[in-house]
Amino acid sequence: MQATFDLSGRRALVTGGASGIGLGAVRALARCGARVAVNDLVGTDKLDTAVAGLTAEGLEVIAAPGDVGDSSDGPRMVRQAIADLGGLDYLVNNAGTPGTARPIPPGDFERQDEAFWNLLLNVNLIGPWRCTREAAPALRKAGGAIVNTASISAHGGGGSSSVYCATKAGLVSLTREWARALAPGVRVNAIAPGVVNSDWMCRFDFDTAQVPLGRAGEPEDYGDVILYLAAGADYVTGQTLNVDGGWTT
Ligand SMILES: NC(=O)c1ccc[n+]([C@@H]2O[C@H](COP(=O)([O-])OP(=O)(O)OC[C@H]3O[C@@H](n4cnc5c(N)ncnc54)[C@H](O)[C@@H]3O)[C@@H](O)[C@H]2O)c1
Repeated sequence: MQATFDLSGRRALVTGGASGIGLGAVRALARCGARVAVNDLVGTDKLDTAVAGLTAEGLEVIAAPGDVGDSSDGPRMVRQAIADLGGLDYLVNNAGTPGTARPIPPGDFERQDEAFWNLLLNVNLIGPWRCTREAAPALRKAGGAIVNTASISAHGGGGSSSVYCATKAGLVSLTREWARALAPGVRVNAIAPGVVNSDWMCRFDFDTAQVPLGRAGEPEDYGDVILYLAAGADYVTGQTLNVDGGWTT
């Protein structure tokens, strides 16, 4: 069952919104009537294709191309999106990268070199900070909310690399910090997804028997929870909600 809210007149920005969880969040917010800026990287036609498809579905979306992992392009993208939308009620910090096509075991220390650290820190951890810093004045003005996409690997490892787990653990920590920093006007929460049926570049060997609910999560499963944390959940802030079909139980 899909959660529903009346978000007419509300404005949202979803980073990494052209695919997977981000696209699920864009759909959930837009079908409730919000106008949504869809951020993703330039250089492929992924963003244009997603925006054209969503528009054809009758949803009110605009493209917000840019790289959240870049110290000037990320903030520029957020400023442009806020100007195009005329303000901002919801920021979904969802863009992330594993930086590897196959999981790197914790013992494989050397492969996780400085370049790898820099990429993952810049996209997964400093990226959300850049967007949050830039969006904070508009969110404060609107009395809005932020939802970050962390990962269950933040809690117990098992992600694509130790560095990836550390960036997501950092994001769980920042979710609490920003909740205090931006209260009482802006709530800040996160989801921690388990396995996702998406185009994520890192492929895992995954057995559905590991998950009590018996399947991988679909983008709409995650989008629905992001919608709830953004638009509902009025007395919830600083929390990270596991969305994993019961895997971590
Ligand atoms: N796939 C999983 O198993 C899994 C599990 C837990 C958490 N997550 C997290 O969920 C989030 C979404 O992943 P997904 O599974 O939907 O994957 P996805 O690859 O389908 O979507 C990620 C999107 O982010 C975009 N992106 C990457 N780097 C970017 C940047 N620097 N600036 C702007 N956009 C950028 C990509 O182009 C892509 O469209 C990520 O933060 C990821 O860490 C994924």
